[in-house]
Amino acid sequence: MDRARIEAFLDRFIDFAAGATTIGLLAVADRSGLSRHLGEVGGGTIEDLAEGAGLQSRYVQEILSGLAAAGVVDYDPGTRRFDLPAEHALFTSDESSPYFMGGFFDVLPAFLGQIDGVANATIHGGGVVFEQFGEAVVRGISRSHSPSQRTFLLSRWLPAIPDAVPRLQSGIRVADVGCGSGTVAILIASAFPKSRVIGYDVSSRSIATARDGSMTLPNVDFEERGVEDLPLDPPFDLITTFDVIHDLTDPLGGMRRIKDALAEGGQYLMMEPNASSRLEDNLSPRGAMLYGTSTLHCLTQSLAGGGTGLGAAWGRQRAEEMAAEAGFGSFQPLVEISNKFSSFYLLTR
Ligand SMILES: C[S@@+](CC[C@H](N)C(=O)[O-])C[C@H]1O[C@@H](n2cnc3c(N)ncnc32)[C@H](O)[C@@H]1O
Repeated sequence: MDRARIEAFLDRFIDFAAGATTIGLLAVADRSGLSRHLGEVGGGTIEDLAEGAGLQSRYVQEILSGLAAAGVVDYDPGTRRFDLPAEHALFTSDESSPYFMGGFFDVLPAFLGQIDGVANATIHGGGVVFEQFGEAVVRGISRSHSPSQRTFLLSRWLPAIPDAVPRLQSGIRVADVGCGSGTVAILIASAFPKSRVIGYDVSSRSIATARDGSMTLPNVDFEERGVEDLPLDPPFDLITTFDVIHDLTDPLGGMRRIKDALAEGGQYLMMEPNASSRLEDNLSPRGAMLYGTSTLHCLTQSLAGGGTGLGAAWGRQRAEEMAAEAGFGSFQPLVEISNKFSSFYLLTR
């Protein structure tokens, strides 16, 4: 036995546990309103912050102590103040920031809540169905994706697709498949009133949320319908999927259906987790997070439906192969708009 290796792994293990408990503390701070209050006032003593946020001071003390130990907030022993740096507030408190991580505070506890089901499926097969993860996952997915969609969809992502913006301005048919709470469809419909946008999703909870958010817009509809039943006639000029393909029971079949539903010259924008198809390229904390969230949610809900279980880390190379298998004429990674979390691909018929 290598003693140094044992000690080093002990430190790594403390990091794992600290990561999990810090997400737990941030989830409590998020749901109790402490993070929002800290974002508004910047900081204070335990007493100031408990009173200002209307919370129990003993809890506030323990939560902030943990967050100080984790480096989320700064602590000054002289003044006994806890301060949230403005740069960190982007992640914890500012729901409009593209760095906002509030979605994790909903989805990670909900994923961990299904460990028994995932373990059972690991032994016997099958999986945990999407709806079993509950309301927190629909809310969390929306809170994870919507801030960056609101910041970048119209300003960067759509302009990266050749001719898409003028075509949207003149009026085309658009589908957002696996639309979740509908942010993308609503943004496109609001910005391009001559275009008609339809959001499709199999989750009734998601479709209900999307309809609530789009009441006054005449050019957007939401339908509870899976990609496998995507209407073919009339065809769509632009189809988008944001973090959907790897969740599907039949990803290749879904991609084929999208290709068949595209008009001649139609474009398909696919956003998927940024990963390589080769495990050896993904051996990093980001890879650990991706395989972890995949096992606890993406993979299991695909296998629950008897699916192929592509997994969230299926990666660029596999995406390109499957695009060819599905019959797309071209596959182009849009590296200029890809980021640490997500890769964008443009596919055409
Ligand atoms: C990770 S969420 C992404 C939601 C949304 N696109 C966003 O950016 O927030 C994946 C979505 O795919 C939906 N989905 C799963 N299987 C589907 C299918 N066969 N057809 C259409 N949507 C599906 C889920 O219900 C879920 O809303």
